[in-house]
Amino acid sequence: MSQTTAIRGPFLTFRADPFETDPMEAILHESDGLILIREGRIVTAGSWDDLHHQVPSSTAVTHYPDKLISAGMVDTHVHYPQLPIIASYGEQLLEWLEQYVFPAEARFGDLTYARAVARTFLKELLRVGTTTAAVYCTVHPQSVEAFFEESERLNTCMIAGKVLMDRNAPDNLRDTAQSGYDQSAALIERWHGRGRQLYAVTPRFAPTSTPEQLDLAGALLASHDDLFMQTHLLENHSENAWVRELFPDRASYLDVYDKAGLLRPRSILAHAVHAQEADFQRCHDTGCTIAHCPGSNQFLGSGSFPLFRALDPKRRVRTGIGSDIGAGPALSLLQVLSDAYKVAQGLGTKLHPAQGLWLATAGGAQALGLQDRIGTIAPGFHADLCVFDPAATPLGKIRNQTAESLSDVLFALTMLGDDRSIAATYVAGQRLHTRD
Ligand code: GUN
Ligand code: ZN
Repeated sequence: MSQTTAIRGPFLTFRADPFETDPMEAILHESDGLILIREGRIVTAGSWDDLHHQVPSSTAVTHYPDKLISAGMVDTHVHYPQLPIIASYGEQLLEWLEQYVFPAEARFGDLTYARAVARTFLKELLRVGTTTAAVYCTVHPQSVEAFFEESERLNTCMIAGKVLMDRNAPDNLRDTAQSGYDQSAALIERWHGRGRQLYAVTPRFAPTSTPEQLDLAGALLASHDDLFMQTHLLENHSENAWVRELFPDRASYLDVYDKAGLLRPRSILAHAVHAQEADFQRCHDTGCTIAHCPGSNQFLGSGSFPLFRALDPKRRVRTGIGSDIGAGPALSLLQVLSDAYKVAQGLGTKLHPAQGLWLATAGGAQALGLQDRIGTIAPGFHADLCVFDPAATPLGKIRNQTAESLSDVLFALTMLGDDRSIAATYVAGQRLHTRD
C-alpha cells in the first residue's frame, strides 16, 4: 500500500465564494482537523475526532496545534528573472523597465545563471507559502527550461512561458515573430502538461510586440485549448498613450489583444488599473482573468485597481492577486493582501479577510482554471498546503491574544503577516519548507 501522510491541526478552506455570501459563512473551519494524504493528494479531510481511526498505525502524525493550515497560496502574476532587481529606486513603469528590468533579463541567456535564480525564486515562493504561480521567464528559451526543470524537481504546479518581444526592446532581448512562435511551440511540446508544469504563451505587453507577433501568439493559443496566456494591460498612463500611438486602428488597449485572439479563459491580464466599464465587460464576456497587483501598482505609482468594480456581480471578472516581483516589493501574498486592503480602503471599499484569503487560494485557483485540483482542502485535491502561524512575531503574538474571533485572527494575519508567518509549506504532500 502507498505511504500515507497525516497532518493534524486547525485548518480552514472555502466551501463557497466569500464575494457571493457572508464571508465567514464561506469558510469551513475545523478547529482540530486531520488531513490524510496519499500519492500527493488529499484522501480525507475533516475533524480529528471523526477521522483519527483512519490513520494507519504505521503513520506518524505531524501536529500543528496552534497554527492554521490552509491550501497553498496562488500568485497569478510574477517575474522570476526580476528577483535580483526587486526594490529598485525611483522610476515609473517605462523608465523602470529600461533602467533595471531589461539589463537584468539580458543575463538569462546563460543557463547556469537562470538555473541559480530559478532555484532561489522557487525556494523563496515556498518560504512565503505560495505553491502555484503564473510566472514570466525571459525572451530566452533557456530561462524557461531552467525554470520548469527546477519546478519539476520540486513537483510544484507552475505556469510559465517564454517572453515574446520583437520590438521596442534592446537587441539582446528581441526575438522575431517567427522565432518567438517556433521557440514557444517547442517549449509547449516539451513542457505543457508534463507532470504538474503548464505553459503560458507570454507576449510581454502590446508595445513590445508587432501585430504579427500578437497574431502568432493567438495562433499558438488556438493550437491547444488548455494553454494559458499572460500579458500586461492598462498599467500606466504613458504606456497606455504609447499603445494608442502604436495601434491607432484598435478601439482600445484591450482590443489589441482581443483582435489577436488572446482573450479567453486562462488568459491572465496583469494590472488593468485603468480599465473602463467596456474593458471589464469584455473580460467578463471572454472569461479571461485580471491579476490584481496592488503592491506593484503602489511601488511604480501606477494607480489603484478598482477590485470591487471588477467583481461587480452584474458582469463579474475572474480576478486573482499577484506579487508582480520585481515591481512588487514583496513576494509574500500576505503582504500583497495587506496592500490590497489599503488600496480598497482608499477607494471606499472593504476587503474582508476571508475574501482576501479566498483570492489568495481557492479564488486564485479559479482565476487560473485550476479549481478542480488546487486551492481547496478536500478529498481529491493536490496536497499543496501552507501552515500559517498567526503568532509568529512578538507583535503577532500580542495581537493574537486580543483577537476576538477567527475573522479577527485572519485580518491580523493578512495585515501583519509575511514569510515569518509560514511555519511550513507542503507540495503534493511533501514538506518542502519548514521555518524553524
Ligand atoms: N509591463 C511590461 N513589462 C512589465 C514588467 O516586467 N513588469 C510590470 N510591472 N509591468 C510590465
Ligand atoms: Zn508584470
